[in-house]
Amino acid sequence: MAKLNKNPEVLLEISRLRKEYDGVPALKDVSLKVTKHEALVVLGPSGCGKSTLLRCINGLEGIQAGEIKLDGRVISGEGTDWRLIRQKIGMVFQSYELFPHMTVLDNILLGPLKVQKRQRAEAEEAAKALLDRVGLYDKRGAFPRQLSGGQKQRAAIIRALVMEPELMLFDEITAALDPEMVREVLDVMLGLVQSGMTMIIVTHEMQFAKAAADQIVFMDGGEIIEETPPEDFFARPKTERGCRFLNIFQFE
Ligand SMILES: Nc1ncnc2c1ncn2[C@@H]1O[C@H](COP(=O)(O)OP(=O)(O)O)[C@@H](O)[C@H]1O
Ligand SMILES: [Mg+2]
Repeated sequence: MAKLNKNPEVLLEISRLRKEYDGVPALKDVSLKVTKHEALVVLGPSGCGKSTLLRCINGLEGIQAGEIKLDGRVISGEGTDWRLIRQKIGMVFQSYELFPHMTVLDNILLGPLKVQKRQRAEAEEAAKALLDRVGLYDKRGAFPRQLSGGQKQRAAIIRALVMEPELMLFDEITAALDPEMVREVLDVMLGLVQSGMTMIIVTHEMQFAKAAADQIVFMDGGEIIEETPPEDFFARPKTERGCRFLNIFQFE
């Protein structure tokens, strides 16, 4: 989507990021730019650092070196108001627990009302419009236990979107779903791509990656090995590691 834009504005800029766990590097010298309205898909084998990268971006992990900028402002240093930044950067995980004792609508309204101090009527209207958009309007009064896995993930996406984030991070959000529910969640994601949301998506769904990505980032061993448009990456990865990774998925 961003490809059409001749002067894309950079929303997120990561420079020379290093992240260690107990002295062991999980991310080594990672640099990356995400422009507004771009859908960046991050691929790579298990343990290569994909989740760590997303967790560093919204401050769930401290970093050892480098810099992360959102909209031109450094957010990786001291004194960052993560409460504010996390309203601008929404994240959905593989299992993003909704509060079990609250209805779908109340789960979604928690952020707008308690964190953003918005008016109930306005927030509720926004929440209902989003629920309608992902086919969950009829489930607004249901409790999480009454929802399927796919419905719960769609509600979790709405819970992030209702905060009106500038950037959305998705970490393998369909990985724990039964196959018949993967499609409905990926369709919501494709709708978001089409609406121009800026997103970083970690996934193992290769057909989806091909269809949704403006840019593919392939990681291995805590490093970005390739960064290419999807048509190039899926036709012929530049690296041997990229080829090996794609071969694993060829017989799916
Ligand atoms: N909380 C943690 N403590 C120690 N090591 C971790 C922690 N989280 C991740 N790691 C390690 O960092 C590396 C990258 O992990 P991760 O980002 O989860 O990879 P991916 O999401 O690509 O599977 C792995 O070697 C993993 O074992
Ligand atoms: Mg992970």
